[in-house]
Amino acid sequence: MPIIEIQIENLHKAFDDKQILKGINLDLYQGDVIAIVGGSGCGKTVLMNHILGQIVPDRGNVRVIDHNNPAEPFRDLADIHGFELDSIHQHWGVVFQRNALFSGTVYENIALWLKEVKGLHDDAILPIAQKYLKAVALPDDKQFLNRPHEKLSGGMAKRLAIARALSMGPIVVFYDEPTTGLDPTSSAQIHNLIFDTHFEIDKRTSIIITHDKDLLNRLQPRIIMLHEGNILFDGPFEEFKDSGSEVIRPYFDLMPILHKRNILDK
Ligand SMILES: Nc1ncnc2c1ncn2[C@@H]1O[C@H](COP(=O)(O)OP(=O)(O)O)[C@@H](O)[C@H]1O
Ligand SMILES: [Mg+2]
Repeated sequence: MPIIEIQIENLHKAFDDKQILKGINLDLYQGDVIAIVGGSGCGKTVLMNHILGQIVPDRGNVRVIDHNNPAEPFRDLADIHGFELDSIHQHWGVVFQRNALFSGTVYENIALWLKEVKGLHDDAILPIAQKYLKAVALPDDKQFLNRPHEKLSGGMAKRLAIARALSMGPIVVFYDEPTTGLDPTSSAQIHNLIFDTHFEIDKRTSIIITHDKDLLNRLQPRIIMLHEGNILFDGPFEEFKDSGSEVIRPYFDLMPILHKRNILDK
């Protein structure tokens, strides 16, 4: 039996009377690669932010495994706050859609969580920072480590956000549009990195919001497609790709165009 890592039950959320999520039910299993897809504004990031505990549901529940307390592993987010939520997040890595870099240098961006969450010191952090900067094909020399994050291009900032998330050695990794805005060469590097990272530790769960058809082809994930507040499709990529559904077919065929439009949106 697969083990559930994250469970969403009857999740409803509206903003200003606009119902975004209309009763989502979803079990995400340990060790899986899951892609959440769907048109712009359909609620993918809102769904992720519920799992992260950043949005409180109007109705329904989100339950997650606390890897610090294996004896009592399944926790309802409605019952936990503050340091208990931090304890769960110790084992999660998140790449936010808009990167969410801290003010400060490249090094400080990677070091902050390693210091505050893992309690590491600079001498232990430096090799970790260098390892993950290399993994995302960024320079790892002193000059680059000391560069203020505002001096990075959009693509470099995205890669730094990925390096920061992975440097935590997370058991669960969330990527919100990890390749949007990257050139094809950088995208291909990130596809490989997400793939390799997934298998780096046993039972790592990777949850990816994306419009990137090449990334889906590379990962062959379980696909969850949101549409009009509900899950329209939940199944293997193979099946999604060949679907004859009159909603899925045009969505899939136009995916590269969606990707471009997202770049222009920025
Ligand atoms: N904090 C908020 N306040 C009001 N509306 C929001 C808020 N967050 C998201 N929305 C709206 O919810 C819808 C879904 O947003 P989002 O999940 O970001 O879409 P996407 O699927 O592109 O990630 C959009 O219409 C967005 O404008
Ligand atoms: Mg989004």
